[in-house]
Amino acid sequence: MTDPGQFIARLPKAELHIHIEGSLEPEMMLALAARNEVRLRYGSVEAVRAAYRFTNLQDFLDLYYQGMSVLREEQDFYDLAIAYLRRAAAQNVRHAEIFFDPQGHTERGISFETVIDGLWRALKDAERTLGMTTGLILCFLRHLDEASAERTLDEALPWRDRIIAVGLDSSEKGNPPSKFQHVFRRARDLGFLTVAHAGEEGPPDYVRQALDLLGVRRIDHGNAALREPDLVARLVRDRIPLTVCPLSNVRLCGVPDMAAHPLRKMLQLGLMATVNSDDPAYFGGYVNENFQQAHDALGLTREEIVTLARNSFQAAFCDDAVKQRHLAALDAFVKA
Ligand code: HPA
Ligand code: ZN
Repeated sequence: MTDPGQFIARLPKAELHIHIEGSLEPEMMLALAARNEVRLRYGSVEAVRAAYRFTNLQDFLDLYYQGMSVLREEQDFYDLAIAYLRRAAAQNVRHAEIFFDPQGHTERGISFETVIDGLWRALKDAERTLGMTTGLILCFLRHLDEASAERTLDEALPWRDRIIAVGLDSSEKGNPPSKFQHVFRRARDLGFLTVAHAGEEGPPDYVRQALDLLGVRRIDHGNAALREPDLVARLVRDRIPLTVCPLSNVRLCGVPDMAAHPLRKMLQLGLMATVNSDDPAYFGGYVNENFQQAHDALGLTREEIVTLARNSFQAAFCDDAVKQRHLAALDAFVKA
């Protein structure tokens, strides 16, 4: 296979940084708004897309929280997740770990149970019909207080066995990991793995705090770590994966353009980088478009692309037998 696009498309890969609410395509947003009689400020798919011009994370988050207001019933969460999983499977994503933002729904009066039942049913259907493996990661919204995160963790406990990890997302600046150290401590004591968005817009110290205070096993984004060689050395030494989201960084103006993206630099430094879509419906592409555009702009080699895919399985929170099976499929693909 000489065509890089074909190679990327067929390459087995894992996606570890995808907010399910960020996979809500404008078409589904309008359809669910009609089904649930939710009033949106947009009259057409084109109007929704035209609004997606962001200059920073907060610009995006304001529209992201508005968009998710159309999600009300268990079936809505099912429809959202199964649509993402079908697209992911078609892109040869063999394992997906999916973030969800329960507080974005419970704050609007939707029950935790409605959200998790719909998502869970989609994940199980995808495992059965698409042959993927999946996991759910509960994210706390960091612009809310720690007490709200604590209540959310309590609400999740009846579904403890459906959730592999907890994470931290939303507005990073001014909301350091230290704000959530107690709830993360409790989550770890309950057996959850932990991750956190850090160094997307926030400083390198937030990456350090995520490691030291939240005990995270992966850093979501992590770009700011590159500003501190000591921190890079620590991430390399401890093989802490970074779930990097190239199109997201471009669209939220974390980098001026794709040619300036640090993905290749990360690999050259020995960091365990992976490629992910973050909020594909808002940022103009799913995981393969992220691979493709990074490839085109940065001149990634085939070896580097395979390393990124291998990292994605190695960084996954699945059990070892599953991980080995995915890695063997990747090796077989590369050999063939
Ligand atoms: N960053 C922080 N919080 C988020 C994002 C993101 O890119 N997407 C959804 N919640
Ligand atoms: Zn994210």
